[in-house]
Amino acid sequence: MSQSKALFDLSLEDARERHKALAKDIRAHDKAYYQKDAPEVSDADYDKLRQELEALEGQYPELIMPDSPTQTVGAKPSQGFKKVKHAVPMLSLSNVFSEEELEDFIGRVRRFLGLAEGEAVELLAEPKIDGLSCSLRYENRKLVMAATRGDGAEGEDITENVKTIKDVPSELPKDAPDVLEVRGEIYMARSDFEQLNKKQEEAGEHVFANPRNAAAGSVRQLDSSITKSRPLHFFAYGLGQHNWNLKDATQFDVIKMLKKWGFQTTEQTGAFDSAEMLMKNYQSILEQRADLDYEIDGIVYKVNRFDWQERLGFVSRAPRWATAHKFPAEQAATVINGIDIQVGRTGALTPVARLEPITVGGVVVSNATLHNEDEIERKGVRIGDHVVIQRAGDVIPQVVKVLEEKRTGKEKEFVYPECCPACDSLAIREDGDVVRRCTGGLICPAQAVERLKHFVSRLAFDIEGLGSKIVEQFYAEGLIKSPADIFKLEEINKTLDKPIREREGWGELSEKNLFDSINERRKILFNRFIYALGIRQIGEATAKRLAATYGSLDTLKKAMEAAQERESESYADLLAIEDIGPAVADDLLGFFAERHNRDVLKDLEDQLIIEVYESPQIGNSPVAGKTVVFTGALEKMSRPEAKARAESLGAKVSGSVSKKTDYVVAGEDAGSKLKKAQELGVTVLTELEWLEMIGG
Ligand code: IVH
Repeated sequence: MSQSKALFDLSLEDARERHKALAKDIRAHDKAYYQKDAPEVSDADYDKLRQELEALEGQYPELIMPDSPTQTVGAKPSQGFKKVKHAVPMLSLSNVFSEEELEDFIGRVRRFLGLAEGEAVELLAEPKIDGLSCSLRYENRKLVMAATRGDGAEGEDITENVKTIKDVPSELPKDAPDVLEVRGEIYMARSDFEQLNKKQEEAGEHVFANPRNAAAGSVRQLDSSITKSRPLHFFAYGLGQHNWNLKDATQFDVIKMLKKWGFQTTEQTGAFDSAEMLMKNYQSILEQRADLDYEIDGIVYKVNRFDWQERLGFVSRAPRWATAHKFPAEQAATVINGIDIQVGRTGALTPVARLEPITVGGVVVSNATLHNEDEIERKGVRIGDHVVIQRAGDVIPQVVKVLEEKRTGKEKEFVYPECCPACDSLAIREDGDVVRRCTGGLICPAQAVERLKHFVSRLAFDIEGLGSKIVEQFYAEGLIKSPADIFKLEEINKTLDKPIREREGWGELSEKNLFDSINERRKILFNRFIYALGIRQIGEATAKRLAATYGSLDTLKKAMEAAQERESESYADLLAIEDIGPAVADDLLGFFAERHNRDVLKDLEDQLIIEVYESPQIGNSPVAGKTVVFTGALEKMSRPEAKARAESLGAKVSGSVSKKTDYVVAGEDAGSKLKKAQELGVTVLTELEWLEMIGG
């Protein structure tokens, strides 16, 4: 049996792959045992496989599938659930961890809304339930659809299963609107969870690591009679699409109404208008935490007024009007068995502590990040040390401190390498950078593999069946050396002595599936394409902004070529994009200056159809693609709001006026920018004219 890779440095893709392999093995053993009555491994070895699978699912609940061996014994693999697009995306939440960060959050809201000093911002505070989110759609007051969150844009249809949950009304009273999506959390009560596990254990069935996994596993059953037998609950906390007039309403009004209509809502919900009161509430709920019959991992704050929520909108994947105040991380003590260095896609070396596996908050942890070499020194970490580690939410576990009193003298100091462990190139720290980076660039195999993994990852090309392990293997064999090779793989495979289908773990069908999923991605949205390139500091949100600004790869390439000249207008245009400052621009331009990268792009262009990206709200916006400069004092909105609003409608907001500026919106006391606009003949609008143009 292969030694399992320690769990915590697995990316989701890796974990998915490992999960698949384990599930396959276990199923084969089950078949041998149950159907042929001829076990092929010892009970102990079989148990080890199951334990690893369970630990993996404990850490990555999204891997729990109805056909997973933890859910059923000997069941047939299933096709899974139908996908559904959410009419309104299901967002995630930003986090705050302290009073100071909470005050910053409130400050940002105030500035965005341009509130006067005396005007209070009321926040609704409610427990953050640790379950899985679900969207319920009612049409004409009948439940017509229940969906999981999925990636936020698209989830899975779990209607039949959700219908078995008693807290979910199948019909709403007459005063409910025609279209109403209710969002909330499916969870399992602690007491029910204990009982379920007892029952499962007695029946020799899977025992769940925590209530959240039990809830997820119960919802993700293809046989809804199993779901029905599980004690699931639902707390409602918000809305998706609806045609309910909420003009003067608050979030709290909605919660109260939902309660009236038959939904369960949390009792610990309250509205507060100062950081001080919010902190008191936080403390009080934290104290009640252990006594609650459901698990919570923080408090969610939401700006109570709906009109303000609407104005605040969202950035990237999270609303500006809400945030989660997380409870302190869970900690545990264990021993560091070793320290490994991982090389990332951009060459960053990251030290990872290999731990004696330990359970923290219901999850087995065997690795923790040490961040960088300064951190190792600051914390005085040595190999063999007893340490305190912590994990909070989904973040990678961290080493908090060394338990020096437990030292025996046998601990060894870790010598930080000055060369890349993958390619032996010098690894250097640039001035002011805490990160040591491999200078091997294009010759470093670790970077190349990481770039390929990034290229196929979920927010990039999202190629199913081409997980990290397979990328590593194909790279090692020279089958895939650069991104375009992925799209040539089907052809290359025809020329191989031993084609993919003949390899261990592969077959006709899995080979076909792989090529199908690769071919499905030959058409790709421009923003995903940019993100997939893995350029340093160009994340998902910045990739979207670049895609929206430049429209096509051709335009982007030309603009980047022109912008190499730092005095050029193209460079100024680049810096005018939100979140792109000189450092990000350097990385971006550095990428395009590299000949090899331009070749990669050309290769890819031959294989792909790159589709124009249109940001969702733009539609037929009158200002899409226009460049706008705001100057002077605005009356109706704060600067951040004006900018966010314009950008959400597809306009580019720039800080300086040039020939390319389409509109200058001039408020009170506009000065030099207004003058320049007049000189250049750029259209000048008052704030009211602008508002009229964008529809108030
Ligand atoms: S509000 C835009 N309220 O937390 C609003 N979420 O990290 C987004 N969650 O996916 C959700 N309790 O599953 C909200 N009272 C609560 C919540 C809550 C739990 C979960 C939810 C969401 C995740 C965001």
